Amino acid sequence: MKLQTIILAAGQGKRMRSSVPKVLHKIGGKALLAHVHDLAMQLGDNSVNVIYGHGGDQVRTTLGELKTEWTEQKEQLGTGHAVMQVSNWIDNASTVLILYGDVPLLKLETVTKLIEYADKGGMGLLTVSLDDPTGYGRIERNANGDVTSIVEEKDANLEQREIREVNTGILAVNGNRLLGWLNQLTNQNAQGEYYLTDIIALAVADSVTIETTQPADQNEVLGINNRLQLAQLERVYQMRQALTLMESGITLLDPSRFDLRGEIVSHGQDVEIDVNVLIEGQVKLGERVKIGPNVIIKDSHIGDDVEIFANSLIDRANIGAGSHIGPFARIRPESTLGEYVHIGNFVEIKKTTVGNSTKINHLSYIGDSIIGSNVNVGAGTITCNYDGANKHLTIIEDGAFIGSDTQLVAPVKIGRNATIGAGSTITKNAPDGQLTLSRSKQDSIPGWQRPVKKEV
Ligand code: UD1
Ligand code: CA
Repeated sequence: MKLQTIILAAGQGKRMRSSVPKVLHKIGGKALLAHVHDLAMQLGDNSVNVIYGHGGDQVRTTLGELKTEWTEQKEQLGTGHAVMQVSNWIDNASTVLILYGDVPLLKLETVTKLIEYADKGGMGLLTVSLDDPTGYGRIERNANGDVTSIVEEKDANLEQREIREVNTGILAVNGNRLLGWLNQLTNQNAQGEYYLTDIIALAVADSVTIETTQPADQNEVLGINNRLQLAQLERVYQMRQALTLMESGITLLDPSRFDLRGEIVSHGQDVEIDVNVLIEGQVKLGERVKIGPNVIIKDSHIGDDVEIFANSLIDRANIGAGSHIGPFARIRPESTLGEYVHIGNFVEIKKTTVGNSTKINHLSYIGDSIIGSNVNVGAGTITCNYDGANKHLTIIEDGAFIGSDTQLVAPVKIGRNATIGAGSTITKNAPDGQLTLSRSKQDSIPGWQRPVKKEV
């Protein structure tokens, strides 16, 4: 059966108290609406239509890459009214799935069941039994246990309010049927809204079976209305991801103190991740990678047996196998480190390639550089790469030794196996194999005496 998915996302989300439309708030670094859209895309051959309203332009520009139709609902006159906006788009022959843009954690298995019910000619309705059903539409059933209608809380009498099984809003049904019922909706109710939920009683009148299912996990159907709920679902989402990673063989020392805002695209066996690690964007981890506490890695590729020590930041970099990074190292974008490289504490590397087995162990800034293999960069070495207008290149060839507290004023080249004396300011190229240093001569004055305090 052809599938069409409508994502309702026109609500304002007042309780977020935000200038950003609700569906653009993020979970796991990804907009709520993008989570819902991703789920729709996992359902195979599916055309999607997002109903937007409040802040719609912002939603469309921010999520312009989503494969979807966009339909504006100028005034928010209810969930039924929202679906009416796409009446012309709905195909008689298709199964129509309704999702909410602010319900981000719904699972594929759950939605698939609803679609199966609809494909067989019924209506698939997702309900959930809550200890506190306040605010939700209640599911009314007859003596046989069949669903007969949904009554919104504001329209419900005291007895109906006792019902704990509630409507999640998520449903699937044939397009032709849906179009027929939409035509019959009125706004004669407590809120003066066109309720999509009124189609349930209309379906029952048309002898369409309402098949309900409940989610395996209640978090699946929770919507986000305020920042507390956003934070709560963030934790649920993070724990889900952590479980998946542990199942695939990654050790997380504490799964409740791990955050993934993006994807671990691939990883080897026996990766170990200590507490408070944040992984962002697309990250690849090799075999046996060890990540220390408080490390942030973004859009990077970490080779086999790499060890990253505490409090290091790695952003858009490639780290070769067997390298050691940190503690307190910062590897910035467009950096590529070879194998067995050692980058130590308080070292910043930017837009630089570093050859195999090179060591930059303490307190250095290396930017816009090409560094060979087996180079030793002493403590406190600075590449002076910026003249205030342009960035310049520093080249250090294989086997060079840079003494501590050296400034390399770019553009400059240090030759193969060259040695630079500690404390030098290097402004001209240093030849291969020689000692180069720029230092004022050291003097000692024989017989010199310290001044003494005058008697008064
Ligand atoms: C709706 C259901 C209720 C259910 C609850 C679950 C109706 C009449 N009621 O309640 O039975 O228990 O969801 O959360 O359907 N939206 C639009 N345009 C509108 C109105 C809403 O796009 O004109 C979107 C909202 O952005 C949101 C979703 O529809 O994503 C639900 O709207 P909301 O106001 O949260 O739900 P209720 O109508 O209160
Ligand atoms: Ca409402």
